Amino acid sequence: MYQAAADRYDSQMPYRRCGRSGILLPEISLGFWHNFGDNDDLVEGRQIMRAAFDAGITHFDFANNYGPPYGSAERNCGQILKEDFSSYRDELIISTKAGHDMWPGPYGEWGSRKNLLASLDQSLARLQLDYVDIFYSHRPDPHTPLEETMGALATAVNSGRALYVGLSKYPLAMLKDAVEILTAMGVRTLIYQPPCSILRPWPIEEKILPWLHETGIGCIAFSPLQQGLLTDKYVDSIPPNSRAKGESSFLTEDMVRDSQPTLRDLKKIANSLGISLQHLALKWVNQQQGMTSTLIGARTVSQLEDSISSTQIPDLTEDTLDAINLVTQARANS
Ligand SMILES: NC(=O)c1ccc[n+]([C@@H]2O[C@H](COP(=O)([O-])OP(=O)(O)OC[C@H]3O[C@@H](n4cnc5c(N)ncnc54)[C@H](OP(=O)(O)O)[C@@H]3O)[C@@H](O)[C@H]2O)c1
Repeated sequence: MYQAAADRYDSQMPYRRCGRSGILLPEISLGFWHNFGDNDDLVEGRQIMRAAFDAGITHFDFANNYGPPYGSAERNCGQILKEDFSSYRDELIISTKAGHDMWPGPYGEWGSRKNLLASLDQSLARLQLDYVDIFYSHRPDPHTPLEETMGALATAVNSGRALYVGLSKYPLAMLKDAVEILTAMGVRTLIYQPPCSILRPWPIEEKILPWLHETGIGCIAFSPLQQGLLTDKYVDSIPPNSRAKGESSFLTEDMVRDSQPTLRDLKKIANSLGISLQHLALKWVNQQQGMTSTLIGARTVSQLEDSISSTQIPDLTEDTLDAINLVTQARANS
């Protein structure tokens, strides 16, 4: 029987307001893309969820197709949520998403009303929840009218299946249109979820963060470690039991080898500050203006604890940010 740590909010986890909303999110949130599927160690997974909550991480992020197989992360964690967290439901912000490929046939992906609302009902069943706190459109759909996708998000809120809505990976022009449509429908956009890391500073380059900040929408950056690439372990090798050695096509051994010269340069900057590469990477994302939370993954409790401890590092100075910029510019020009 799990009893959450009594001092979970006395810990060092800082909270930030999510745009101009009533919601505070922890600086570090926990994602379930990897590590909670049917082939993963769910004993460790349960410990990761408990350790996260005990450390003040009040936000768990899912999507319909996290696993593998698709749906298994929600199903496995739904059972853990029921067994361990049902008395803490009101202390948790739980999100899920729909839009990527999920089930066969023409309605199993993208942004139709059919896909989003059927997927949300499936997610609620797997998670064994009455509602999620945030329901996202997981990716922009170039073919479905935005009014239809946003209408489905509005229905999710108006029907009580979700408390808030979010948008993920929308380019700025489409994001602005989507937010305007939602506003006209009487639904506020709580949060935007883009990829963001030192090696993939997309929302910064596209100037999305300042617009979010002005508009009062929060931002949660996914894959801040670039799927583990921005950690000490890949600087000189590709260790066993790492994502790059596994079956993920999103991080391959070739990608690691191509990045190692850059990793070595970034590691020198981290060394000069007496911190690890992963702490440099997490801090860099975390201190971007307008960033509400940094959405990490963890395969072990010790990885989780290591990421949480990055919240205690002082902000990187302008000199350090310039040095990082030089490294990434050199990579872009090579
Ligand atoms: N909206 C979207 O389209 C989208 C897309 C992707 C992700 N996301 C969200 O973002 C979350 C995080 O994504 P992510 O897992 O790619 O994040 P990440 O934090 O960049 O990478 C996490 C991985 O890095 C490795 N790692 C973490 N800490 C480490 C440490 N201290 N030392 C060495 N290795 C360490 C682990 O992999 P190994 O140990 O296995 O190497 C871990 O699973 C996802 O779970 C999901 O919720 C959203």
